[in-house]
Amino acid sequence: MRILITGAAGFIGYYVSQRLLAEGHQIVGLDNLNDYYDVELKQARLKQLLPQPGFQFVEQDLADRDGMARLFANDNFDRVIHLAAQAGVRYSIDNPMAYLDSNLAGMLTILEGCRQQKVPHLVYASSSSVYGMNKKVPFSEADAVDHPISLYAATKKSNELMAHTYSHLYDLPTTGLRFFTVYGPMGRPDMAYFSFTKKMLAGEPIDVFNHGKLSRDFTYIDDIVEGVVRILEQVPERDDNNDCASPDSSSAPYRLFNIGNHQPVELMTFIRTLEQALGVTAKLNMKPMQAGDVYTTYADTDNLQQAVGFSPDTSLADGLQKFADWYRAFYG
Ligand SMILES: NC(=O)c1ccc[n+]([C@@H]2O[C@H](COP(=O)([O-])OP(=O)(O)OC[C@H]3O[C@@H](n4cnc5c(N)ncnc54)[C@H](O)[C@@H]3O)[C@@H](O)[C@H]2O)c1
Repeated sequence: MRILITGAAGFIGYYVSQRLLAEGHQIVGLDNLNDYYDVELKQARLKQLLPQPGFQFVEQDLADRDGMARLFANDNFDRVIHLAAQAGVRYSIDNPMAYLDSNLAGMLTILEGCRQQKVPHLVYASSSSVYGMNKKVPFSEADAVDHPISLYAATKKSNELMAHTYSHLYDLPTTGLRFFTVYGPMGRPDMAYFSFTKKMLAGEPIDVFNHGKLSRDFTYIDDIVEGVVRILEQVPERDDNNDCASPDSSSAPYRLFNIGNHQPVELMTFIRTLEQALGVTAKLNMKPMQAGDVYTTYADTDNLQQAVGFSPDTSLADGLQKFADWYRAFYG
């Protein structure tokens, strides 16, 4: 297949591109290589993709309407995997406009391109952050998600709503994937596991928010890739008998799935596991809760399991060890 992958120089986009190239697909990778975090890391990922004959790179901003329309007019994609976005919960407190451009305008240029070109399946990244103030765990796709607590989460929920509209109006099959705290080698420097590692190895204290009383459903990158690749083949179909009674299903060709480890880990357990992987003891700087953060994330993965016969299961100890080994090799 010929597949457009947006955010191909990003963490998840890089791994999904590698996997699909290895399976023999042709990949058009799009990214604007912005400097939200270390551009050298994005370049290092790209450097591994560029020499592969099946890979073509397009440096472009999603919000460039004409450029995006041209891209879709001049190509013919069998699938679109839309992973480019302005990520980060905390960054959205100080930089709200970046989310308007990349996550809202950016999603619309993708939807319009898919509509014009009649792309057979759009798979796009949503986020566990859409569960916001939900208290019931585990988080299920059938739960109402109307109480986001960061602008990032609000844009991700908006992406799901926009996708539903296009699925309904134009019969565009769309699948939204709610990723839960993804980690692994070549991961994102803005995420806690990455910045903790940097500080712990430098002997500096790490900020432990809400005095450690937080938990996250940490999901290893290989499990995310497996989920994305399997979902690609599950093209949603219209079902006129569906009465739209549940938030996650519709008469339109539209689906949503959680992809998470189904095993939340307390922040202090996470820090102890990272200490073991790195062989150093962390200095802790206890802090109050941060604006925009949720207390816990916990994925119900029954729907994913039922649809593709898979759900993530890499243990945190194994995954963090792989991350720690990569970190030492990459940064010295
Ligand atoms: N990593 C996680 O824990 C996590 C969790 C939930 C959801 N997600 C979502 O998964 C997707 C991929 O996340 P990631 O961790 O790989 O993030 P990432 O920041 O590493 O990758 C995103 C890539 O998109 C590119 N990009 C951003 N805005 C762009 C724009 N306007 N035009 C073109 N390119 C642009 C960036 O340069 C970057 O390389 C994102 O949509 C993110 O919101 C990630």
